[in-house]
Amino acid sequence: MTKNSGFNHGERQEHFLKSLVEFTKGHRAAHWSGTFAEFLEKILPADPKGIARSSHEYVWDMIRVEESADEQGRFRCKLFEDELFGIDDALERLVDYFKAASAGSEVGRRLLLLLGPPSGGKSSLVILLKRGLEEYSHTDAGAMYGIQGCPVHESPLHLVPHTLRPSFRETYGVEISGELCPFCSSRLTSEFAGDFMQLPVQRIFVSEAGRIGVGTYAPHDPTTADIADLVGSVDLSKVSQYGDEGDPRAWSWSGAVYAASRGLLEMIEILKVKREFLYLLLTLTQEKNVKVSRFPLIYLDETIIAHTNLAEFRKFLQEAENEALLDRMVIIQIPYTLSYADEARIYRKLTSSTQAFKQVHLDPHVLRVAAVFAILTRLGEGEDNEAELTKKVRLYAGEDVEGISRAEADKLREKKPDDGLAGVSPRFVINALSSAIIQSDAESLTSMDVLLALKDAIESDARMDPKKKRKWVDFLVLARKDFYNRWVKEDVHKALFVSFEQEAQELLDKYLDEVEATLDNRQIRDPITNEERKPDERFLRSVEEKIHVSDSGKQSFRQEVVRKAMGAYKRGEKFTLDSHAQLHDAVEQYLFEQRRDVLRLVSSAARPDEETRQKISVVEQRLVEEYGYDGHSAREALKYVTTLLAQE
Ligand SMILES: Nc1ncnc2c1ncn2[C@@H]1O[C@H](COP(=O)(O)OP(=O)(O)OP(=O)(O)O)[C@@H](O)[C@H]1O
Ligand SMILES: [Mg+2]
Ligand SMILES: [Zn+2]
Repeated sequence: MTKNSGFNHGERQEHFLKSLVEFTKGHRAAHWSGTFAEFLEKILPADPKGIARSSHEYVWDMIRVEESADEQGRFRCKLFEDELFGIDDALERLVDYFKAASAGSEVGRRLLLLLGPPSGGKSSLVILLKRGLEEYSHTDAGAMYGIQGCPVHESPLHLVPHTLRPSFRETYGVEISGELCPFCSSRLTSEFAGDFMQLPVQRIFVSEAGRIGVGTYAPHDPTTADIADLVGSVDLSKVSQYGDEGDPRAWSWSGAVYAASRGLLEMIEILKVKREFLYLLLTLTQEKNVKVSRFPLIYLDETIIAHTNLAEFRKFLQEAENEALLDRMVIIQIPYTLSYADEARIYRKLTSSTQAFKQVHLDPHVLRVAAVFAILTRLGEGEDNEAELTKKVRLYAGEDVEGISRAEADKLREKKPDDGLAGVSPRFVINALSSAIIQSDAESLTSMDVLLALKDAIESDARMDPKKKRKWVDFLVLARKDFYNRWVKEDVHKALFVSFEQEAQELLDKYLDEVEATLDNRQIRDPITNEERKPDERFLRSVEEKIHVSDSGKQSFRQEVVRKAMGAYKRGEKFTLDSHAQLHDAVEQYLFEQRRDVLRLVSSAARPDEETRQKISVVEQRLVEEYGYDGHSAREALKYVTTLLAQE
């Protein structure tokens, strides 16, 4: 739900206009231009460190602007938080790269390569970094200055002659690295007679569209791709004006490496480009310069972030001569998420921006059940035990699973190296959902519809081999059996009660009271009659039997429950159903069995009488009002659960 969802249309417009005004304020305030002399006097002293930052330091500072730590003390980054889900480990590695690089580690001299399966968020990740840099450059902390008119918007500090740099360091406490570019050197002599104090300097703002601080290169056709796309070429129209092909002013500075100077260069599908490109880029990261035409080396400080998919990478590895190149890269894997909860968030993000989905109601489990299927395909290699797979999927989503010890859970949670590197992509699922909507013309899509749509998509995929198809269809069945059935049953169970939460909590409290009395060997006082009685063993057992606690195991089970309840009490928390996965199930089933008769009516009465109809419609209504169904999917869910019951 968006922040503005509570507003009506008019209010929303007003809100938007306000934020536009705020935006322009923020963007106007900070412009600055002046000579280098003025820059040294007015700008530099306030923040010499910030001004002398390298591109890695700049990105690292940007990432940290809105950092925080989560409950486990892990680094969380606002930049990615609302956009990329379930790939925290990969993000953490990326953040670590920038941290190390900005601290001066060797990794800063290596090219960053994002490696992952298709549609796994690589491009999105880089886009977020780019947008982050654009935003950051408009803030005070992110102020960046460049020589006006310089094709690589280089740092004005490059104007400080080498002989004076040691005393610069002593004065301002920062090191200057980098050389004046050929364009500015020639301009310095021809226009300013060498008086560098007069060169114009301005505050610059990172802008992909403006080709400042962000460069992107995508090979359209690797065979015809020309290195000039990266580093530019002679601009023939200007040669006659300057009379010399070697004049830097007659050079076309349109290459992506120049645009990216001071910021980020994104190389899409990097392993598809010619090896010549790769060498140039590796030299650029390692030595911070490029060599073109007759110019001396051009100093460029930028962070190169490249991406590629696994198939391309495996091909690359097969060529022996590439091994040396690998040493000069830092590879970060961006796998698919393995948490179905996060995967469902991805679908929600992708569907909420699509027109086709806006008209359609999805039952509350549509996205989750599709996500479970996707995760199963990502874990499926080499694992055939369905029960194990189910447990794994639940554990990866952070759920408690009944009846497994912590040690076993940790073992199951251990990721195998290939987990998440293959299987279904978010795009596959979204496409299947879209075509289900378009084909059926339906206004309401149920989880069962979606499972069928996925089955269709698998079966009509010409590239997939039959064995894999069968396996994936089996995963659909598993997603339904071990996940959807549980969820839909729980919804219907709850809808059978006026207030499920309250009744469940009361039952839980009663269970705890009785257990404590039994363990302490004391009597229970009836709150109304004030009479004392023995703890109700029959009640305790009827709850425990729902989850197969045996007579010999009941003592230790009860002790464990009390221990957990005491723990919650000490932390000042309430002991609720969410505190204990097993009791949660037991209580739910206990309550449910009391109300089962209503559901039996759904199926048994061929022509239901008025009273029956009334009862059923109350349940349907609750499904709609409290559990996210619409009329159609509520009816379907009731029918479905009734058939499930008939099979039990
Ligand atoms: N973990 C994720 N969290 C949020 N959205 C994701 C995630 N993974 C993928 N997506 C979404 O899926 C879509 C495809 O992702 P993206 O284009 O970034 O993938 P990619 O790795 O660059 O794929 P390709 O290799 O095909 O270029 C995007 O809309 C992206 O937002
Ligand atoms: Mg991409
Ligand atoms: Zn320059």
